[in-house]
Amino acid sequence: MPQPSTDPPPKYGFKDTTFIALGGEPGVRALVDTFYNHMQSNPDFDTIWSWHNSDPATMRDKLTLFLCYWSGGGRHIAEKLPPISIPAVHSHLRVTSAERDQWLACMKLALLDNGHQQALIDYLMQQFFIPAERIRISCESNGS
Ligand code: HEM
Repeated sequence: MPQPSTDPPPKYGFKDTTFIALGGEPGVRALVDTFYNHMQSNPDFDTIWSWHNSDPATMRDKLTLFLCYWSGGGRHIAEKLPPISIPAVHSHLRVTSAERDQWLACMKLALLDNGHQQALIDYLMQQFFIPAERIRISCESNGS
């Protein structure tokens, strides 16, 4: 008969642990604000910043809501979020590994600026790589 696991639950990526570690919705909003502030002001991110042309508040709201949901923020967040496919909403862009890495470097700066623990940053950078790489593969395969 299988025995219940005695392993401690993982620190992040289990239920809402990542969302809570990020500081809930206010923490995610602060992260997204820092992320776009860096993207706008740091010349290293000029290419990807030049692709952003929505109203700044809407752009920040969309990423905040998505990251709240993605980090385990729960049903009430999911209800506010129209279903989206992350590769599909980026399919009009020319994302190569250079632009993927700009996005990831910008997010890492934002996580550091928001004073998050190194273990959370390491975990999130591994997790962000997955959709970022999917975006690159889908953009390069559809020739955009
Ligand atoms: C791989 C590098 C990436 C680039 C270059 C990129 C760039 C962009 C751009 C240009 C937009 C449109 C902004 C506007 O409306 O003006 C956008 C939207 C968005 N991105 Fe990314 N992005 C990347 C990765 C990611 C990742 C990894 C995520 C999620 C973890 C993400 C989540 C979103 C969301 C939720 C939106 C809003 C989509 C909507 O309009 O509903 N992006 N991104």
